[in-house]
Amino acid sequence: MYAGYIFDLDGVICFTDQYHYQAWKKLADRLDIYFDEEINNRLRGVSRMDSLEIILERSCKVYTVEEKLAFAEEKNKIYKKLLRKMTPEDLPADVKTTLMELRKKGCKLAIGSSSKNTKMILERIGLNNFFDAVSDGTNIVNSKPDPEVFLKAAELIGENPKDCLIIEDAKAGIEGAFRGGFDSAGLGEANEHPRVNYKMKKITDLLSI
Ligand code: BG6
Ligand code: MG
Repeated sequence: MYAGYIFDLDGVICFTDQYHYQAWKKLADRLDIYFDEEINNRLRGVSRMDSLEIILERSCKVYTVEEKLAFAEEKNKIYKKLLRKMTPEDLPADVKTTLMELRKKGCKLAIGSSSKNTKMILERIGLNNFFDAVSDGTNIVNSKPDPEVFLKAAELIGENPKDCLIIEDAKAGIEGAFRGGFDSAGLGEANEHPRVNYKMKKITDLLSI
């Protein structure tokens, strides 16, 4: 057991990947840029602007910084509209059970997400005010694989990185955990990272770590 648990949001607590995909796809189609699920997988854990750069790799045009900022804003508007469909039903039962059990054990629980929409998503799924701390895309300069978002979360819950476990579905997140001196538990693709400490099949596996 760890004193603190720092959860990634997208792909761990809830499943927003489909909405990110739909929103990026709409933008890419408008710009006539090829985009598919495989490219979308590369966007996991990556910040909005870095995601846009990955999408623009397939474009033959060169865009200015202003144009890129406008594209990111356009995507975010579409994404936020899709997020409005989310309800507390989108908080999976096994995630809820895991969070409640860890809380009962007296562990500190935090979010460590690259998303600037974290607050809105937590509200939509009924978890606003649930976590002891929320560190997200709005309070960091460097995105994952930089450990900044996790270090801020650990600081906010008053625990040392060595006493916290990071829960991630992205390789970039496992890399960030390692660089920050944290242990990590992976789900899905994150388990391919050589530095992951615990490979989980499902989130409830956390309860036996
Ligand atoms: C991460 C997602 O949690 O947040 C990425 O895995 C996303 O796909 C990133 O790009 C930034 O999200 P947002 O909501 O700030 O655009
Ligand atoms: Mg994720």
